[in-house]
Amino acid sequence: MSGRNVTVVGLQWGDEGKGKIVDALAGHMRYVVRFCGGANAGHTVLVGEEKFALHLIPCGVLRQGVCNIVGNGVAFDPATAWGELSALRDRGVTVTSENFRVSSAASVVMPWHKLQDTLSEASLAKGKKIGTTARGIGPCYSDKANRTTSIRAADLTNPEVLAEKIRSIVDIKNRTFSALYEAEPMDAEAIVAEYVQLGENLADMICNTGGLLRQAVADDVPILFEGGQGSMLDVDHGTYPFVTSSNVTACGVPSGAGIPPSEVGRVVGLIKAYSTRVGEGPFPTEQDNETGNAIREAGHEYGTTTGRPRRCGWFDAFAVKYAVDLSGADELALSLLDVLTDMGELKICTGYSTDGQAHEMFDPAAMSGVQCDYETLPGWDCDITGCKTFEELPAEAQNYVNRVEELLQTPVGFVSVGPERSQTIVHNSKTEGLDK
Ligand code: GDP
Ligand code: IMO
Ligand code: MG
Repeated sequence: MSGRNVTVVGLQWGDEGKGKIVDALAGHMRYVVRFCGGANAGHTVLVGEEKFALHLIPCGVLRQGVCNIVGNGVAFDPATAWGELSALRDRGVTVTSENFRVSSAASVVMPWHKLQDTLSEASLAKGKKIGTTARGIGPCYSDKANRTTSIRAADLTNPEVLAEKIRSIVDIKNRTFSALYEAEPMDAEAIVAEYVQLGENLADMICNTGGLLRQAVADDVPILFEGGQGSMLDVDHGTYPFVTSSNVTACGVPSGAGIPPSEVGRVVGLIKAYSTRVGEGPFPTEQDNETGNAIREAGHEYGTTTGRPRRCGWFDAFAVKYAVDLSGADELALSLLDVLTDMGELKICTGYSTDGQAHEMFDPAAMSGVQCDYETLPGWDCDITGCKTFEELPAEAQNYVNRVEELLQTPVGFVSVGPERSQTIVHNSKTEGLDK
């Protein structure tokens, strides 16, 4: 087993600050690999004054000497990828087949997936809607499992095969969407023209990335696996059906990247100092009140991908402990601690009860209508964004981090006190990559 590989996964509902930590750790890596999700992700990296919001291209792209891989487990949207790649090039970032590769086995998000995502959500009654990002993720993974109506990235490199598949699938989708949603038919030839061109643009980047990564494993070259979304959105282990459609915990790394389970490496679980959720579904610690509004404004909690206001609430240690155990997190990175400055007393949820009966173990299927058991901690009111060491943090902030560490029985390796690269405190970390 390689001691040098690192897996970064979100332990809440996404947007925990994965982009920032992946970028920070990527400087010491040879590969950065996305293994789940697709353009539903929005990962922010700040480099000096420049802000990058990455959706499909891994966050190692801003580091020299890193090869960025979109693994087979990703729902790959070639139109978004090409747009993102071109925008990065316009900003002076090098993106070529040297530092960006896409698995030939990745399932391709096609226009009908995005259309179906939107039509399906619009057709659902209130309470049934998932609140998706409308990026075609669910329909793309459905077709992957269905097999006969799926296009893989390898098909993008063969114009004849691609055109034939598009024509036959569009025929099926037109008939289905017309019957289900009375939708206007799609023009197969327009899609053929656009996607043959995209395939040509991306062809030299599409390859057997699983083989490449297993060779890297054999050569003991360090790999970082960049999670998308958050554990509570995992299709198997999250708050189903209000989840995304892939395996987003560390359990998804081997199958989504094509490496053995023993190579997942050190698992760094990302947590933000409070909780947020975009879209529908249970969220027991949600504060739909002044506290939630204050957190949203202080943390600029608006979606990186859709711009939607994020639902905000207190840190839920009961839910996060479940996610820690699921991914086998070796250490935690706690982000956005600065957002809690000036919030007064702080609360942490330590358990759930139903009708006065405490839940013995966390169950994502038993979250609605629960009462949260809270513990209250003192807050702090001095600016912590300039703190460089744990000891520089006010005693109350140190106490908050220590209590999170205690409740989760896992060391907090990094504490983030602002969005910039320099605003990361290395605390109880055993992960190679960031110096104290
Ligand atoms: P991701 O999806 O997990 O990569 O997270 P997002 O990029 O969607 O959202 C995190 C947001 O918080 C971004 O705007 C980051 O620039 C910002 N951010 C990350 N860490 C910190 C931090 O410690 N403090 C503050 N104030 N902002 C942070
Ligand atoms: P990152 O990687 C936060 C949520 C959507 C919706 C549900 C299903 O930036 O943390 P989908 O479009 O995947 O079918 O939507 O999942 N969701 C995310 N929420 N951060 C994300 O990614 C998300 N990706 C999907 O809001 O509730
Ligand atoms: Mg995000």
